[in-house]
Amino acid sequence: MALWSGRFEEGVSAFAHRFGASLPVDKALYAQDIQGSKAHAAMLAKAGVISSEDADAITAGLDGIEKDIRAGRFSFDINDEDIHMSIERELIARIGDAGARLHTGRSRNDQVATDTRLYMKERAGDLMAANLSLREALLAQAEAHKDVIMPGYTHMQHAQPVLFAHHLLAYTWMFARDFQRLAAARAAADANPLGSAALAGTTYPLDRTQTTEALGFAQAIPNSLDAVSDRDFLLDLMYAASVSCLHLSRLCEEIILWSTSEFGFITLSDAYSTGSSIMPQKKNPDFAELIRGKSGRVVGDLMALMMTLKSLPLAYNKDMQEDKEGAIDAADTLEDCCRCMAGMLQTMTVHPEAMLAQAKKGYLAATDVADYLAKRGVPFRKAHEIVGHLVLLCDKRGCDLDDLTLEDFQTESAVFEADIVDALDLRAIVDARTTYGGTATSAVEQQLAEAQAAFKADGARAVR
Ligand code: ARG
Repeated sequence: MALWSGRFEEGVSAFAHRFGASLPVDKALYAQDIQGSKAHAAMLAKAGVISSEDADAITAGLDGIEKDIRAGRFSFDINDEDIHMSIERELIARIGDAGARLHTGRSRNDQVATDTRLYMKERAGDLMAANLSLREALLAQAEAHKDVIMPGYTHMQHAQPVLFAHHLLAYTWMFARDFQRLAAARAAADANPLGSAALAGTTYPLDRTQTTEALGFAQAIPNSLDAVSDRDFLLDLMYAASVSCLHLSRLCEEIILWSTSEFGFITLSDAYSTGSSIMPQKKNPDFAELIRGKSGRVVGDLMALMMTLKSLPLAYNKDMQEDKEGAIDAADTLEDCCRCMAGMLQTMTVHPEAMLAQAKKGYLAATDVADYLAKRGVPFRKAHEIVGHLVLLCDKRGCDLDDLTLEDFQTESAVFEADIVDALDLRAIVDARTTYGGTATSAVEQQLAEAQAAFKADGARAVR
């Protein structure tokens, strides 16, 4: 019989019990459940609600249960509805009445909120660490390829040459913002619901400050109804995870493209590739595709909880039991994806010649030729049109801008002189973009230093 069975004459149907149970999911929270119960028992004893002998017995009993669960010796009973019931029932079986006093002034409603917050605070910290290892891998590749020129794209068409390091650093800034979102999600979880009981608080003289400090929460939640009903911290974490997964999926897409024979910009290591069961030649970027695919599931987890919480009245409703599965999945998935991506980046081979060869195609110097004219007094719109004609000429001849003669240039504008060849040099084009945040080697070096500094500063935050 369940621990709440007093007012019932019959047990719940076997199917309904299984349908209603959350133990398979929430047993992941066993350590936090025990941590919360120990803090609650110590506080009850200090407030004189239970004896210190009972509190000691509870602590020792819970420690024993924790050890057994950790060692895989604890046999979870399918008749228990959730991890809270499972541990409490076992505690009572082991220590008797003292164990039956633990739930004084407490409800599973504040208990589950407390456990989930403790768990997600920790997971947010893990995800911040995973985010850092991913950024470390990107920073190392950027540092190692500071002089590599690649075509920059808009609309997936060749646009202007950029440094490969510049391209990689763009991702480190995306992931740096993800880190801030994860830190904010951790802060959102960092508040104590314990002592709110079922919904209204309790008549026992509970000291919520004591449990707040014992559990390492930043503050006690000021409203008992809000304390048991709030799952925003899970939405925050899943939103942070979703955005990070979207960023990962964009990087995956580029990695997949770059490793095609059409691009050939990179080769993934064997450690992060798979073969085909029928085509002997195949080397597939499976893991990049899988991360790209998993990003959909993480966004789905966020959407699912948003829909679950929509229109829910205060305070606790059983709907909320649906909160943990997706949140745990989102955290686990993002952590694995970061880890996989970091390994893939660390071990990939970059092909600078292939990038440069592509950068030479598609008139990447066109903007700079127009700028050449504009800097010599031709209004930019006119200059744009002149270069447009030159590109058309190249198109017809099947050549590139640097194949044109000075006479070809001068047919379109008398402003062109012999030094136009300088405007066609890819390295010069890249290195002329010295504006803050631009792709010039000097600007990228400064940017790299800033990204490394942000990485260091976040590293100091992650451990706290
Ligand atoms: N297993 C429940 C959950 O995860 C715990 C809280 C249940 N509270 C209740 N009054 N039924 O949400």
